[in-house]
Amino acid sequence: MSVATLISGASQLLTLRGRGPRRGNALANVGIVKNGAVLIADDLFVAVGTSAQVEAHPLAASAQRLDAAGGVVLPGFVDSHTHLIHAAGRADEYELRITGASYEEIAKRGGGILNSVNKLRAATSDALKQRAFSVLKQFAAFGTTTIEAKSGYGLDLTSELKILRLHQQLSAEQPLDIVSTFLGAHIIPGEFRKLSSGAKDYVSLLIDKLLPEIAAQKLAQFCDVFCERGAFTLEQSKQILEAGKRHGLRPRIHAEQLSRTGATQLAVKLGAASCDHLEKINRADVRVLAKSKTVATLLPGCDFHLGLNQYAPARDLIDAGAIVALATDYNPGTSPTVSMPMILSLACSQLRMTPAEAITAATINSAYSLGRDKQIGSLEVGKLADVSIFDVDDYREIPYYFGMNTCHTTIKRGQIVYSKSSLSVA
Ligand code: NIG
Ligand code: FE
Repeated sequence: MSVATLISGASQLLTLRGRGPRRGNALANVGIVKNGAVLIADDLFVAVGTSAQVEAHPLAASAQRLDAAGGVVLPGFVDSHTHLIHAAGRADEYELRITGASYEEIAKRGGGILNSVNKLRAATSDALKQRAFSVLKQFAAFGTTTIEAKSGYGLDLTSELKILRLHQQLSAEQPLDIVSTFLGAHIIPGEFRKLSSGAKDYVSLLIDKLLPEIAAQKLAQFCDVFCERGAFTLEQSKQILEAGKRHGLRPRIHAEQLSRTGATQLAVKLGAASCDHLEKINRADVRVLAKSKTVATLLPGCDFHLGLNQYAPARDLIDAGAIVALATDYNPGTSPTVSMPMILSLACSQLRMTPAEAITAATINSAYSLGRDKQIGSLEVGKLADVSIFDVDDYREIPYYFGMNTCHTTIKRGQIVYSKSSLSVA
């Protein structure tokens, strides 16, 4: 066995220990241990608790020591909604929106997602890979250790396979875990828009060709649909997600972002892992989500970046008992950020979540939405040693310092993957 690592000297250790996803009042329970420590052997935690408890473990004496220097130690963030692979940013559209055009108007003119599709199809796999490599390093620099990644800027067999294979290769070639989602139903691609039966034909292509191929090659674990005016209708979303299920891909859905489509209730009926966005949900949707095991994943980065003032009703969802998670929605159109700490800041100031609730939503609850809550999302014996250490005295300072990066060290499966001191020397 390789040398164990003991992390001690934390002002606060946020364990997030407990069973299952957190709802209601339990969302605020981050399981703080004062003067806490963790002991890691290989890629797993073998002891978590007070320094005295951890020091008593037989492997502690010979362990190498990592001093948290009075910082806050918590599980690595789980970013459960990203569009990792794309070829370029869209700052030109950002400026157009600031000067008056809406996101939907830009999309209708062939910008938006279609703009990114054109760029991705033209990009080599190598160029996409290099871009993703450096972005993944940035994710780690903000304390994130697992991300979900959606395809959806390819929208033909070759290009979607190009993206999904990159998810697979990047999983093997860099330290962060990547959970792959097929989002062929992101928008109807340009070549199908010219035909009157275009939407129907594209849905058939997804169901008859892309889904079977992707499932056969085991390139995705989830199937997602952008259910929205200008993208996919409720009926099309149902057909696609049901077909995904037949191939063993669990549904996720982009729901009620710009308009209310009924996607949330459809997703719950289908047993979806997660409904994401939810700005336009109504009371009935909140009740249905609260009674379900489908996670309500909130993405306040989108509303912030688009300059929209309607955020998802997080308090209603929490108070009703829904499982609330938070994610960046890292993408070039609506949320170009990899910073979970910034998302926590927005969750606190705009969604009125407390810092503790936001941290739970960004760790154990997002892990649950990816079906990984038994492996990640908390500091508990037997789980993967995914840790982030923040250079603050109190966990509330993580969202408090908005737009700043207070992450000091990130550890994935027991290995340091980011360390501020080594970067600042460069
Ligand atoms: O989650 N809404 C659909 N997908 C992304 C936006 C994609 C884009 O504009 O490129 C989202 O907001
Ligand atoms: Fe998205």
